[in-house]
Amino acid sequence: MRIKAYPHRKDLYRHLPKSGVGAEIGVQFGINAEFLHTIAEPQHLYLVDAWQQEWGDHVCNCVKARFTDYESVEIVRQVSVEWANSLPAHHLDWVYLDSSHMYEATRNELLALIPKIKPGGMIAGHDLNIWGYWKSGVIRPVLECVQEGLIDVIAVTEDAPCPSFLAKVS
Ligand SMILES: C[S@@+](CC[C@H](N)C(=O)[O-])C[C@H]1O[C@@H](n2cnc3c(N)ncnc32)[C@H](O)[C@@H]1O
Repeated sequence: MRIKAYPHRKDLYRHLPKSGVGAEIGVQFGINAEFLHTIAEPQHLYLVDAWQQEWGDHVCNCVKARFTDYESVEIVRQVSVEWANSLPAHHLDWVYLDSSHMYEATRNELLALIPKIKPGGMIAGHDLNIWGYWKSGVIRPVLECVQEGLIDVIAVTEDAPCPSFLAKVS
């Protein structure tokens, strides 16, 4: 199967299942969350971030204020894997992962999140590169999930130095 290439991560969001239940893992200020919400038009969008830095309370409150009028948005201040483990199987249509980027953490997130996505649903994520402090922390666990038959990568973006990927859940 050929893997498509798109210029920017926003091009991937058009391929997320419309009107689905989606989640962004790693929200920070909510900038990308706005694009996910506008383009994928989820019926419910979980914005999940632990906001653990010392200024985390402030950032979390800013994100809550930013999305206060968005009825479909639920802000979840929780560690990603804990949150994923709390969901029933196949609860989500799609996920966009953009959190610590560290190898063990990202592998654990993928393994916790994938069973919570419907078969045929999508998992996407940022920074499928070998760059920055995380080195191969994203690319290795994503490739491992492909090797383990959990996902098929269907598209990548060419917005270097921080490309994204889009994968279908098996
Ligand atoms: C790169 S920023 C997210 C940027 C955002 N996706 C955007 O493009 O606008 C990474 C975020 O992931 C969060 N994060 C890192 N590890 C996490 C974890 N294990 N659980 C929840 N959030 C986490 C951090 O608090 C931080 O806000």
